[in-house]
Amino acid sequence: MQVTWYDRIGKEKIRKLIRDFYAEIKNDEVLSPMYKGDFEEAEERLYLFMVQYLGGPDLYNRQRGHPRLKMRHADFLIDEKAKMHWLANMKNALDRSDIGEEEKDFLWSYFQQTASFLKNH
Ligand code: HEM
Repeated sequence: MQVTWYDRIGKEKIRKLIRDFYAEIKNDEVLSPMYKGDFEEAEERLYLFMVQYLGGPDLYNRQRGHPRLKMRHADFLIDEKAKMHWLANMKNALDRSDIGEEEKDFLWSYFQQTASFLKNH
């Protein structure tokens, strides 16, 4: 059986990473207005998405349908500044995590690539 990134990282560490990330977002003067105060639900969505992306249960798809991330971000102005803020918040959360180094590297390059892909301005 194939060992997934989800198996290697574990859902508790994914949960903590996303929780710490949203704690950063809440205090981010550029990004927090975009989330319109709906942090708990947004946290759950990103958590379920990451679980699924990393090879865990596909609860995201079952609750939200196909991710279509580009389309779902189209209403938000994502320029270089917003992208850098998003990534800086995620970097802080990763730095505080005890996820293994190899897994952290994998996550970090995925976040960088996806953030660049989602830029729309
Ligand atoms: C580049 C900077 C980014 C900005 C400014 C941004 C902003 C946002 C905002 C404002 C939302 C709506 C919150 C909600 O109600 O769920 C959202 C949702 C979401 N974002 Fe991002 N995002 C960024 C990058 C990313 C990246 C890199 C990923 C994936 C690794 C991602 C994954 C998601 C997911 C899965 C949702 C929930 C979609 C849904 O089911 O509706 N975002 N994002």
